[in-house]
Amino acid sequence: MDVLTYYMTIDRTKYKHLKPSNDKFIRDAILGILIAAKDTTSSALTCFFWLLSKNPEAITKIRQEINKEMMPKFDPADLNKLVYLEAAVYETLRLYPSVPFNHKSPAKPDVLLTGHRVDKNWKIVIPIYALGRMKSVWGDDAGDFRPERWISDSGMLRTFA
Ligand code: HEM
Repeated sequence: MDVLTYYMTIDRTKYKHLKPSNDKFIRDAILGILIAAKDTTSSALTCFFWLLSKNPEAITKIRQEINKEMMPKFDPADLNKLVYLEAAVYETLRLYPSVPFNHKSPAKPDVLLTGHRVDKNWKIVIPIYALGRMKSVWGDDAGDFRPERWISDSGMLRTFA
């Protein structure tokens, strides 16, 4: 079933607020999926393969990892063993985030973790693209594609949380 048919035939007793017979609802829902899902993913994959084309040593490491962890039999349960591949995707999204800006507005006055006070309805812009390139956060090689920065000494993925 395609996404459009899914929305048009959705069980209304289960999702009371959805309006499958309303053209505007269907239009907005499909546009949301196109932008949130398709454009983000295609942008990320385009940048991923472009970065790989400029960094052949990363292709070699991805191939070696797949051969080691996924061969001779492909099992989707083994996908989480592809640490380097996942790091390469993180590194792609750091340098070329599919959503380069985000914004939030507090529902009521609040204090950010930084200590800054924010008022109700203030618009807080989060410049994701710039954050991913700050040398103070990532080091002098912030502009380089280096998936290794996401992998700890013990070979685990680092999340910088
Ligand atoms: C590389 C791929 C993707 C990236 C970089 C990405 C990024 C984001 C970001 C930054 C947000 C805003 C989160 C926030 O403001 O707190 C978001 C929201 C959302 N994304 Fe994605 N996304 C991706 C793929 C997808 C896919 C594949 C789907 C659906 C199948 C999807 C569905 C959504 C939806 C429904 C929201 C709104 C969530 C909400 O408002 O609660 N995204 N995404």
